[in-house]
Amino acid sequence: RVGGPIVTDLLQCRKPEGPDFPEDLQCCPPMPTSEPIDFTLPDPSEPLRTRRPAHVAGAEYMAKYERAIALMKALPRSDPRSFYQQANIHCAYCTGAYRQVGHPELAVQVHFSWLFFPFHRAYLYFFERIAGKLLGDPGFAVPFWSWDVPEGMRMPLQFANASSPLYDQMRNPWHAPPKLVDLDYAMDVVENNYTDDEQIKHNLWIMYKQMISSAPLASLFHGQPFRAGEASKPGAGTVELQPHNLMHVWVGDLLSYPNAEDMGAYYAAGRDPIFYTHHANIDRLWDVWRSNGKGEDFTDPDWLDSSFLFYDEEARLVRITVRDVLDMDKLRYTYRGVGLPWLDARP
Ligand code: C2O
Repeated sequence: RVGGPIVTDLLQCRKPEGPDFPEDLQCCPPMPTSEPIDFTLPDPSEPLRTRRPAHVAGAEYMAKYERAIALMKALPRSDPRSFYQQANIHCAYCTGAYRQVGHPELAVQVHFSWLFFPFHRAYLYFFERIAGKLLGDPGFAVPFWSWDVPEGMRMPLQFANASSPLYDQMRNPWHAPPKLVDLDYAMDVVENNYTDDEQIKHNLWIMYKQMISSAPLASLFHGQPFRAGEASKPGAGTVELQPHNLMHVWVGDLLSYPNAEDMGAYYAAGRDPIFYTHHANIDRLWDVWRSNGKGEDFTDPDWLDSSFLFYDEEARLVRITVRDVLDMDKLRYTYRGVGLPWLDARP
């Protein structure tokens, strides 16, 4: 049968295979001791977590993120809440490690389709709660890297400090701060020769194009429908392609590593702590598209009922659906505003 939601099953996870992966790559999660439980919303009385922009969040807030990453890295690899396992979640959902239930010849893949935004929202939701739990801070919120506003168009300094747990040595050394991001970064690694002012203007125009003029419909913004029994990667949405994908490659080091690991390769991207900060911004842009771009999400049940598995902060395996993640307020988090300077940045 073709059609219906994409459903993930841990028993359908196997070693990723293909020329782009290291021989010994293994990224399936630990097997649970019992059946997954269905997701339930957090208690409405929980503190609202406010995700703040890294460039103005302040040293104390960023130090908290550093501590959270250090605590995750200190957990044994067998713990589903460890940084190692958190990074592997991305690998498992992006390399064809998960096979479709009932269609073992077909991969579950959360990129290049309408699963992109909801999957990453759920991923970040559990990641943030695990971090908060380890810190003993129920209000903890991940910082976001606001590369869409001029003040945020550089890699936040904390990530470039070689002695920080936020550091990843597999990044393009030319793109360390104060280098401005290029939201139109060419995959062939040719650096443009814009002045800073030109680069900022160009970045804002890219944002306007991807968020507004090219994304009036859910299928254009989110990506194409991907249903059970269908081949993966039917087509990505505007923001996923650019700046999302380009920023992955911009951070990664294509000059030294064939697949631009860590950030530039799906299987490795979650190993760089900047990944979660990058994705918080992506997640925020989904909300901006709905509220400021007047975008309307899909109402198709195949989208709403698609589901993913994550271990929560208590290391319980949870099944969460797309429907579960549509309301940030019910998930008890929000974003501090940073302005939308690209909203009228027509060329
Ligand atoms: Cu799952 Cu930024 O990619």
